[in-house]
Amino acid sequence: MTILFFGDVVGALGRQALAKALPDLKRRYKPDLIVANVENLAHGAGVTGQTLEDLIAAGVDVFTGGGHSWSNPTGTPVYDDPTWRDRIVTPVNSGNAKGGHADVVRIVGGKRVLIMNIAGVLFMKEGGSSPFQKLDALLATHTDPKPDVVLVDFHAEATAEKEAFGHHADGRVTAVLGTHTHVQTSDAKILPGGTAYLTDVGRCGSYDSVIGFEKKTAIKRFLSGTHSKYDLERTGTAEVNAVVLHIDPKTGEAQGLDAIREIVDV
Ligand SMILES: [Fe+2]
Ligand SMILES: [Fe+2]
Repeated sequence: MTILFFGDVVGALGRQALAKALPDLKRRYKPDLIVANVENLAHGAGVTGQTLEDLIAAGVDVFTGGGHSWSNPTGTPVYDDPTWRDRIVTPVNSGNAKGGHADVVRIVGGKRVLIMNIAGVLFMKEGGSSPFQKLDALLATHTDPKPDVVLVDFHAEATAEKEAFGHHADGRVTAVLGTHTHVQTSDAKILPGGTAYLTDVGRCGSYDSVIGFEKKTAIKRFLSGTHSKYDLERTGTAEVNAVVLHIDPKTGEAQGLDAIREIVDV
């Protein structure tokens, strides 16, 4: 089984870049399931029904999120809409959480694939409850039937919290993939207990930017120390960062992972 996972998709440029890159990625990797983190999907903050539909049309099956999942009130009703229950998860242990579910099960090639979304708390301004305890609690609710494959989107800032979380999950889940920092790390590995791990998958969004946002505004924020609103480029060059997970369908164990990074003009 192959799962393709895209890191934080940032705004219109990120959405279009993902859609442009996906046909070739499908040809190369033949994914059985495609997942994308969408906390920044609608102009950098949250989701709308239309922007989610755009990604479904592009081929994405399941959506994960982060602290920004609840930033756009027009999109938040989908999190508790039963018709979206098998499509979207949010890190409900985040201090920003207003509804939603942190777990979803999809049947892929006859196998039960559990996708979970958990938020870190270290250097996360929204705070939240312990992600380590949240993982234990979620796994305890999925024992009968037991999932064949478990994928965790761990949405966190601090590398230490992410590595510690990976080791806490090691041997109990198929993969821990980090999101939120929007910059891909080069530490893709299989942990001693067999769990595939990457500290951060990176973004789908503007290349010549600050984590996907317009660089001049971002620099101004740091220069002035004021919280001026981030701006976004709608066209230009984008980076599409993702992970390809190779999974033994019989055991549900990770066989390997490839961190991928495509540069796309939109
Ligand atoms: Fe993000
Ligand atoms: Fe985030």
